[in-house]
Amino acid sequence: MSSYDVIIIGSGPGGYVCAIRCAQLGLKTAVVEGRDTLGGTCLNIGCIPSKALLHATHMLHEAEHNFAAMGLKGKTQSVDWKQMMSYKNDTIATNTKGIEFLFKKNKIDWLKGWGSIPEIGKVKVGDDLHDAKNIIIASGSEVSSLKGVKIDEENIVSSTGALELAKIPKKLIVIGAGVIGLELGSVYKRLGADVTVIEFLDTITPGMDAEIQKGFKKILAKQGLKFIMGAAVQGVERKNNKTSVAYKLRKDDSEHTLDADTVLVSTGRRPYTDGLGLTELGVEISERGQIKTDSHYKTNINGIYALGDCIDGPMLAHKAEDEGMACAEGLAGQKPHVNYRVIPGVIYTHPEVANVGKNEEQLKEDGQDYKVGKFSFMGNGRAKANFASDGFVKILADKVTDRILGAHIIGPMAGDLIHEICVAMEFGASAEDLARTCHAHPTYSEAVREAALACGDGAIHA
Ligand code: NAI
Repeated sequence: MSSYDVIIIGSGPGGYVCAIRCAQLGLKTAVVEGRDTLGGTCLNIGCIPSKALLHATHMLHEAEHNFAAMGLKGKTQSVDWKQMMSYKNDTIATNTKGIEFLFKKNKIDWLKGWGSIPEIGKVKVGDDLHDAKNIIIASGSEVSSLKGVKIDEENIVSSTGALELAKIPKKLIVIGAGVIGLELGSVYKRLGADVTVIEFLDTITPGMDAEIQKGFKKILAKQGLKFIMGAAVQGVERKNNKTSVAYKLRKDDSEHTLDADTVLVSTGRRPYTDGLGLTELGVEISERGQIKTDSHYKTNINGIYALGDCIDGPMLAHKAEDEGMACAEGLAGQKPHVNYRVIPGVIYTHPEVANVGKNEEQLKEDGQDYKVGKFSFMGNGRAKANFASDGFVKILADKVTDRILGAHIIGPMAGDLIHEICVAMEFGASAEDLARTCHAHPTYSEAVREAALACGDGAIHA
């Protein structure tokens, strides 16, 4: 048995970042992790492996569609799936080993096994009981399947199985046009699969700016993804080597089925808190299964904190990381603050989609007087040279004060471009502040500046 200032349960982006910050601030820290490798869902079966596959298949797309036009001829591309999987696995390994290195560097103990909290101030891992002045739950989330749909991770898969398929499916049905469905749907489309996305709502990517939703869907459809919208999936069945999805169209209640080799269920995730002993301890949980916390990540039980996917808010690795740092700093007596109004969201398709702050629909609902500055990547020299001119930047600013309220981008490197707007928003900048900032030419970033200019007297290249 050992004693710690802090024991964190879970080594995903929330947990491991929190641990590093705790250690940096002089707290004796341990992390409980039951997986064989550190990094949680994000590094092992989420963000990182999916980005490896998105990168590899984007390269394939470039080779197939744009190389010849650039004068690069002569070699036919073919896919070695085994090698692509091993590239993906190597990417996971270098990242998870990186966290292990950081733990050693910061003298953080890895308590291997699944943890539970038998009583306040104690964490049990296997047969060992450890003392902890503070316990932080960063246990993440798990796939939330549809009622009656059994995920076998072979033919009916979640994102986990979709990153490990034995072979590239000829036909793939994706249930849910959210982030996971569109990212992984894009991967398999680029690998030659016939991909149909079935979505309950009439729009893709729920919660996003409506203009972005429309533009994004158009681009994905141009890339060959098929969409069945307004369709409630009723069930998925595996029979005679085929997987059938039964769905009902909401507009007329008509019933249909569609067959595929593989079905990806990407209808959301839910907090993962199984086996921690929270009910016995009396930790308050919301109706949605999230651990309830105050703004300092404290639960209703003294000395127990929670952060990341298992509490309220968007299930995003970077949101969890920020909470991890803030929670650690709070324990060390500092006064940290996470600005939930400036948390970017990114979809790593090609083009990428990124957003921060409010969208137009939310501003209308708030009764906010706003203006819109838009700029298409068609007017961006770099994007044209790189065959990447699909998409646009849209900046929303207060009509009177010009303060930036939100930004929405579809375009090349949108996930990187969004951050200059995040920084601007953190500093309470106006669209004019962005517009008057010199941007290097030729860069994709110029499109952000042009959109900011469009909030004022007008973009130059529009
Ligand atoms: P999601 O919540 O983004 O999308 C789920 C979609 O499924 C919704 O559009 C919903 O309307 C639809 N749906 C639900 N029930 C349905 C039914 N019966 N029939 C048809 N459609 C139905 O969930 P997703 O994509 O599974 O992602 C889960 C979480 O993981 C999200 O919170 C997301 O933010 C996070 N994530 C983030 C990534 C990123 O930041 N790039 C990447 C992957 C995941």
